[in-house]
Amino acid sequence: MRIIGLGTDIIEVKRMEQFAQKPGALERIFTPQEIAYCQARKNRYQHLAVRFAAKEAVYKALPFGGVAFKNIQVTNLENGRPVVSVADERCRDLQILLTLSHTDAYATATAVVQQ
Ligand SMILES: CC(C)(COP(=O)(O)OP(=O)(O)OC[C@H]1O[C@@H](n2cnc3c(N)ncnc32)[C@H](O)[C@@H]1OP(=O)(O)O)[C@@H](O)C(=O)NCCC(=O)NCCS
Repeated sequence: MRIIGLGTDIIEVKRMEQFAQKPGALERIFTPQEIAYCQARKNRYQHLAVRFAAKEAVYKALPFGGVAFKNIQVTNLENGRPVVSVADERCRDLQILLTLSHTDAYATATAVVQQ
């Protein structure tokens, strides 16, 4: 496989906290599994923010546009490692690597696409 795309994003956790106050906002962007993972954690806005950054990073790394953020889903393996899946036929032969990090103030994500 060779690397065909790289993407990154950083967002302020405070902005996610504000966004999450709007009725229905989270449900428009995040899958039920993503929301459940974040809501179960103490620093839920950090986890939501980093998932938003992940969707941006994956979007930037893909060689085409037009992917809805809700179709880009981040889950975690048992050891905590994040895994991304994209519900889009064009991603069938692509492998996407993702790494995440967050602090009280910022959340950042980097994605690599291989084919
Ligand atoms: C897993 C670990 C690397 C996370 O690092 P951290 O600085 O606490 O937290 P960060 O904000 O940078 O990263 C958090 C993200 O890392 C990702 N992550 C968690 N476990 C992971 C793993 N095993 N592999 C890759 N990524 C992982 C997750 O995506 C997590 O965010 P999420 O829960 O919202 O999905 C850290 O907790 C850890 O276990 N470090 C091991 C340190 C160690 O054993 N040192 C030995 C010598 S002292």
